Amino acid sequence: MSDIDLERVLIGDDDVVPRARYTSAQFGTLEFERLWARVWQVACREEEIAAVGDFCEYLIGDQSILVVRSAPDVVGAYHNSCLHRGTRLAEGSGHFDNECIRCRYHAWRYDLDGRLIEIVDPEEFAPMPDDVRLGQVHVDRWGGFVWVSLDPSAPPLLEYLDPLPKLLAPYHLDRMRMRSYRATVLPANWKVAVDAFNEGYHVQGTHPQILPWTDDVSLEYEPLGIHSHYGRLPNARRKLRPSPRLGLAEGEYDEGEILASFVAGLGGLFYDDELALIDKIRSAPQDGETMLSRYQKGRRALLAARGVEVDDFADDQLTSADDVFFFPNMVGPIYPGSAIIFRVRPNGLDPDSCIKDTWFLEWPREGEVHKPVQRRFYPDWTERDWGIITNQDYANMEHVQVGMKSRGGQGLRLNTRQESNVLHMHRVIDRYLIDS
Ligand code: FES
Ligand SMILES: [Fe+2]
Repeated sequence: MSDIDLERVLIGDDDVVPRARYTSAQFGTLEFERLWARVWQVACREEEIAAVGDFCEYLIGDQSILVVRSAPDVVGAYHNSCLHRGTRLAEGSGHFDNECIRCRYHAWRYDLDGRLIEIVDPEEFAPMPDDVRLGQVHVDRWGGFVWVSLDPSAPPLLEYLDPLPKLLAPYHLDRMRMRSYRATVLPANWKVAVDAFNEGYHVQGTHPQILPWTDDVSLEYEPLGIHSHYGRLPNARRKLRPSPRLGLAEGEYDEGEILASFVAGLGGLFYDDELALIDKIRSAPQDGETMLSRYQKGRRALLAARGVEVDDFADDQLTSADDVFFFPNMVGPIYPGSAIIFRVRPNGLDPDSCIKDTWFLEWPREGEVHKPVQRRFYPDWTERDWGIITNQDYANMEHVQVGMKSRGGQGLRLNTRQESNVLHMHRVIDRYLIDS
């Protein structure tokens, strides 16, 4: 049990967030006991374990969970620890040959349902019950993701996710497929990384280069159960405009340029034919219809031709993401036909380090056979160029983490509108911490 003084780390009536929540190892321990051990979290995508015998390992803190496809439509999740002397049975991702999980140490074998099927020299062991199994972990599926919970009495997954399944139904995340998987280690608490993608307030401070084509002010933030959401205000979606912070009047900016920069700046969320469409629209201006509306119509047609179900989307959703935060650790922009999902986890038990996974999801073309995606891992985020916007976000992390340790500091004082999702997350964390 963690011996931290709970009262000192909870959020008070003044909404100030104690810094120890990001920096204290004891607080991290408390989070493991009361948060990570109880929430539903995404272990992998279903397409990563497409064939019977495929597995993925999910690491959270010092725990390892093995997710295995044991039959065409059955996925199991087990504590990744041999029943003999505890050896971790598998790492990373891969395939169990002969439909069996074999321990590397003394060769005990389990079937894909986790049942112990062979002990070498069984007569030399004390008798065991017939049905001995690897420790079972709660598992369920939604949106093409495999979710696990270490809590045997966790609520049903759909209840936990409510109301996101309804909000996200038109996107059919279950029909998207992973195009790339990149993971890296960031030198900050896991919440520092989540926070950086759960508000638009930092755009003016960290990414000023995008203000000419980004209306960062007209974002709406809303709690959705224990989760949250942010996106463009409905009436702001209908215009292409720069940040109101720049103080430019209509006529002082070029809509075509804004559209082109916006689509190009989204780092791969738009398909090639959707990029090419911009040049076409810009080179043949048409009176009476805005470029945005022409682009939305054009994009709708291109996505429909790709097989994406576009009927349930309003025009403005074709050029404006739904940024959804799945409590506690997944966030990212979701568009018709594509999504970038960030999953963030503590790196072992270290409060100063986290692992961030970035998944690009896309809509497969008709008849396309999905190729398994290679997981790429960068132990140091500076090894790779993540694109200017993400590089800027990552570069902040270390400074936030070390700065929060300053003895001269007080708690985090959050913007009541633009950082309301961050505060909401902390309040939900508190519910888990208090309700032990
Ligand atoms: S530890 Fe697994 S068989 Fe001995
Ligand atoms: Fe950012």
